[in-house]
Amino acid sequence: MKLSKVLLSGVVGTISLGLAACGGGGSEGGGSQTMFKLAFNQTEEHPQYQAGVALGEKLEEATDGRYSIKVYPNEQLGNQADVMQNVSDGTVEMAWTAAAVLEGYNPDFVVFNLPYVFDSMAAQAAVLADREPLAELFDSLEESKSLTVMAGVSAGTRNVYNSKHPIVTPEDLNGLKLRVQQSDSQVAMIEAMGGIASPMSQGEVYSAIQTGVLDGAENNEAVYDGLKHSEVAKYFSYTRHMIVPDYLLMNTDILNAMSDDDRAALLALMPEVQQIANDGLIDYINVSIEHAESIGAQFNDDVDTDAFKELVQPMNEAALAENELRQTLYGYVQEANAANPA
Ligand code: GCU
Repeated sequence: MKLSKVLLSGVVGTISLGLAACGGGGSEGGGSQTMFKLAFNQTEEHPQYQAGVALGEKLEEATDGRYSIKVYPNEQLGNQADVMQNVSDGTVEMAWTAAAVLEGYNPDFVVFNLPYVFDSMAAQAAVLADREPLAELFDSLEESKSLTVMAGVSAGTRNVYNSKHPIVTPEDLNGLKLRVQQSDSQVAMIEAMGGIASPMSQGEVYSAIQTGVLDGAENNEAVYDGLKHSEVAKYFSYTRHMIVPDYLLMNTDILNAMSDDDRAALLALMPEVQQIANDGLIDYINVSIEHAESIGAQFNDDVDTDAFKELVQPMNEAALAENELRQTLYGYVQEANAANPA
């Protein structure tokens, strides 16, 4: 059931709950617990849901019960674009969000969202493992939007799927209307690859494909099957056009209002959260492929990826030429690619 805006607007900042009401854990002497809401747009089976739950449990333990986290899956708190606004306002404390959505707040986030920029998921994990070199980017929205990027995790490798036919060459995309995430770079990417881009939030995609408003979309295998797109778009083609991150966001003022020790405890949990989400995604992708195939989905891996790479090259060059920060960030990607080839 969706939480209404009215309900949300009544829950400004953190909610203090008596420990008895939270089902135990916590500080001796009956202190109160602050429960952070963590918004998530996918199902409970997704590893980011599990990483969020584990984060809550570990935070509760590390802060003697002063803090915990409740994860709201399935867009219960709204789609990613709306939820980001709520995290910025502080009415929702935390959210998992797609990297593309952040481009609307700071276009420099585009570097890690460009097509074919990472050679492997291991290269991406290597760049995201160390927050320090990324701090200029990750902290860039603190003053203006009160948004802190706590950690980046892998959102897998994205590929095109559709209801019409397998994609092998860019010509096969001609005339196909595909959902993309809500950002200029995602629109430019699919148009450069040969398709027609239709930006929309994740939750609307299934029925848009089912009713023929869309021919397909692009995503990893976990979203393809987890959100049942495999029922309505049977052809999944390994274009491998993006290895893109998701980010865990938190309202900066709420983070800063924690005591130094509690904040440090929360930040210290980020590597574990990354690991749970990244390892879990790999398992979940395998389960998703198996299930999608069992209901008739067809995966083809004979795609001419070089042809797609060539088509997106100009957009990548233009994006990276914009400023020095983007070039520095791209330098990290290149180092990681050299150490973690495809
Ligand atoms: C990903 C990602 C999500 C995002 C989604 C999308 O798979 O994990 O954060 O919602 O793609 O395409 O919108």
